Amino acid sequence: MASMQKQQETTRRQFLRRLIKGIMVISATAFIYPLLRFTGFTVKPKPRYIVIRKNIPFGGSYTEHDFILFQSEKGPVAISRRCTHLGCRVHYRQELELIECPCHQSRFTLTGERISGPAENNLALYPVRLLQDDKGDVNGYEVTI
Ligand code: FES
Repeated sequence: MASMQKQQETTRRQFLRRLIKGIMVISATAFIYPLLRFTGFTVKPKPRYIVIRKNIPFGGSYTEHDFILFQSEKGPVAISRRCTHLGCRVHYRQELELIECPCHQSRFTLTGERISGPAENNLALYPVRLLQDDKGDVNGYEVTI
């Protein structure tokens, strides 16, 4: 009888220890998470490689969900479609030869440089790698976003 009571007490003590540990972990997380957010700590997402199996002629463009790929005189340029003002998706205005944000009309050049509007920064550029066939002709692009 005495040993059973002692065993129950041990179980009660174990339960209380676990409860206190759990409360400490939750309290630490509740304190550390806002602290990390405040200091700007972020985990960088893994890069995504998007392959476009298409040859874009000089002056041409290809619009994807997250970027616009232009074939300029300096080579292919991939520009983010995320506006640097509040994050709306920008559009390529072919007739004006510029990129425009539909939300507050920020405008950018075809190389992503800011022209006008409330956006204060240029659009992000993504690295582009040319894909070639066996003969060395360009037959696609790999954009890293
Ligand atoms: S979100 Fe693009 S200009 Fe405001």
